[in-house]
Amino acid sequence: MSIDATAFTRAMSRVPGPVAVATTVDGAGRRWGFTGSSFSSLSLDPPLVLICLAKTASTHAAFAGSPHFMVNVLNGDQAEVARRFAKSGVDRFHAGDMVPCELGLPGHPDAALRLACTRYDMLDGGDHSILVGRVEALHVAAHPPLVYCDRSFTQPMPAGQLT
Ligand SMILES: Cc1cc2nc3c(=O)[nH]c(=O)nc-3n(C[C@H](O)[C@H](O)[C@H](O)COP(=O)(O)O)c2cc1C
Repeated sequence: MSIDATAFTRAMSRVPGPVAVATTVDGAGRRWGFTGSSFSSLSLDPPLVLICLAKTASTHAAFAGSPHFMVNVLNGDQAEVARRFAKSGVDRFHAGDMVPCELGLPGHPDAALRLACTRYDMLDGGDHSILVGRVEALHVAAHPPLVYCDRSFTQPMPAGQLT
């Protein structure tokens, strides 16, 4: 028996996730990027992270063809950046806020965390590809990260404030 897609999507929306913008540069020097909440740490030795990208996404060919990518974990005030990099049919780099950072990859100077990766593997994940990156350089800022939960952007709250 197959699970109903709407029920599955609704169920998974209850799981809080980080909000990242993954970027890369293709062979012609063109920049590509997408908003992804399917970002996770994977391995310590070697240092690996993963992010999943829909096979139908306009950015898929660029990420599949590039040896490097950057993961920008957005800070709590960057919901606008997340929305922009999820929008179809627009130049997501028009705001000029992504600049060459670690390994020369497009990064946001205000991101909570930047991870510059060499592509370690690309695995099949159903209708998504699982991009596995080996972290070559990182930058950590003091800003708290952006969180996506229940289809809204939010920020982590100390447990004491929840009661
Ligand atoms: C909060 C949020 C999280 C998202 N997470 C992912 C993700 O993990 N993987 C993915 O492929 N698309 C994700 N998307 C959708 C992409 O950002 C983008 O909208 C999609 O790739 C369609 O873009 P296209 O016009 O380039 O095909 C997310 C969108 C939002 C708003």
